[in-house]
Formats: sequence, structure tokens, C-alpha cells
Amino acid sequence: MLATLDAREIAFRDDVLAGLSAPIPALPARWLYDRRGSELFDEITRLSSYYPTKTETQLLRDIMPDVAARVPKGLAVVEFGAGSATKTPLLLEAIAPAAYVPVDISGDYLEQSAAELQQRFSRLDVIPVVADFARPFTLPGGIEHLPQLGFFPGSTIGNFVPSSATDLLRQFRALLGPGARLLIGMDRVKPVERLIAAYDDPEGVTAQFTLNILTRINRELDGDIPIDAFRHEARWNDILSRIEIHLVATRDARFSVAGSSFEVPAGSSIHVENSHKYGPRGARLLLLAGGWTPIAEWSDASQDFSIVLAEAQPERFAP
Ligand code: AVJ
Repeated sequence: MLATLDAREIAFRDDVLAGLSAPIPALPARWLYDRRGSELFDEITRLSSYYPTKTETQLLRDIMPDVAARVPKGLAVVEFGAGSATKTPLLLEAIAPAAYVPVDISGDYLEQSAAELQQRFSRLDVIPVVADFARPFTLPGGIEHLPQLGFFPGSTIGNFVPSSATDLLRQFRALLGPGARLLIGMDRVKPVERLIAAYDDPEGVTAQFTLNILTRINRELDGDIPIDAFRHEARWNDILSRIEIHLVATRDARFSVAGSSFEVPAGSSIHVENSHKYGPRGARLLLLAGGWTPIAEWSDASQDFSIVLAEAQPERFAP
């Protein structure tokens, strides 16, 4: 059986086994996005209580002329993630880059969305790269001579704890090279009630999205997790300024995954996701710590969401 696992499956198994064995059981959020998970996330973005996607999309629409005026012509845009059918075209239309390189761990979805964009923007060179952008990878040949713009919308950076987020930002800087720009979406701190409503919708779509990771583990890693022994819970962690998503055991849960046994006692949880929220100062500080100097920042009228344009710091950041 082991011989039939590909690199991605091995990474999934290793992450799940290590995560479930940890003193505080946790699963990395990127594994939430199998086919069903991606569909459910798509449904989340249309919920009335989930403000980030709608707010960021409108904000991108509003600021594009400004962004276009601040970046060079003939860019290579490298998007971390497969790209959204609505957000990505807003950028591509406004800045007319020479190349567009979406980077995503899920090959199927990436090929499909890249093909759609290629059709719509026929003069653009669309070069999809199947890779986990959180691990080091290389850019395709032929775009090195172009000025580079990293695009990291969706507040995906919020999934990473600050120390990993700065590592990731540094890796982006190393990948894109000197002189690169980065356009990044970051969600803002706001009243707890609104945050909880966004991550624990009355329709229960977010709960399904979270629980789906257990279904995926059972299917792909030969597990027998009793899914009905877990419930979705969204908590605001004020000191760490983040929403935490937990799967709380409603009774003692004993199960096995890929041949290893686990036990989650009633009332304890598996931590499956963090969504960090930043104030203006925190957002800029995170970028600076990650090797990027903010050059412009935009927010919607209610200050619900922000988009920052930053510039790669030179190797030695004076003084
Ligand atoms: C895709 C990471 C931006 O944190 O808001 C939404 C994921 N999880 N509802 C977020 C998510 C539950 C989302 N990001």
C-alpha cells in the first residue's frame, strides 16, 4: 500500500499522524481543501455572514487603477493559490501582465482554472505550477527577466501563525527576487460577534467544511474516525488575535488512521485552523518582519479588510 502513495499523499499522512500525536492535536489547514472542501469553501464565500471574500473583491475592484499606477508594465504575476474566477481577472485586466503563474497544490483545479484564464486572456502567457507554495519550489524558466509581482489574496496569510507567516513571506521574497512587489490581502480585527458569525454560520456550512477533513482522512488514509463524535467550534483567541477552529469531541473518541491508534477524550479537541486578524500596524509589522516594505495600503470604508502593496527589501535593510 505504501508503494502506491505519491508525494502528496505521503505529506498528508505524515502531517496527519504527526498532528494527531501532538500534545495539542492539530491538523494543518491546507488539507481542508480536497474537492469537497473546495466546494464547501466556495459556498462559505457566498454566505451573508462571511464578509472577507465579498469585501476583498469589491476593494480590489476599487483600487485597481491605483495598483496599476504603482507597478511596472510587463510583469510576471505569481499567484500563491490557484486563483479565483472573480478576483484574479480584476488584477489581470487592470495591469495587463506578460505572464501569469498560479501556484497550487491541487493539480486538477489548477489546470482547469488556468485553462479558463488562458482562454479569457489569450495574449497572456499562463503557466500553472503544481506545488505547495508553503514549501520551497522554483519558478518556470522564461520569466526571470520580467519584473515580478506576487499576489496573495484571500487573507490566506492569516492561516499561518506569525512565525510561519514571516518564514513564508521571506520565502516569497527569495523566490521572486530583488525588486519584486507583493499584493496581499489581510483581514482586520473587528468585534468578536461578527468574527464568530463569519466562522460559525447558522446554515452550518463552515461546520461541514471543517468536518470534511475527517471524512478525507478516513477515505485517503484508511481511517475509522467516528465523525459524529466531533462538533465544529469557532473561538476567538484575543491575546493571539485569531479565530481558532476546533473539532471538539462530544464523547471519548478512539480510532485509527494509517495503522496508528489515537484517542481524543470527550471535551478536548483537534485544532484544525487559525485565521489571524491584523490591525493596520500589525499588518505592516508582519510584512516588514517577512522582508517586505509596505508602499501602499487600502481598506474598505468599514475597515473590515485590507490590501497592502509591498516591495522586497534589499538583502541588507539599512541601517
Ligand atoms: C481561506 C484561510 C482565508 O480564514 O477566512 C473560512 C478559510 N475557514 N471559513 C479564512 C475559512 C473557515 C479562510 N481562508
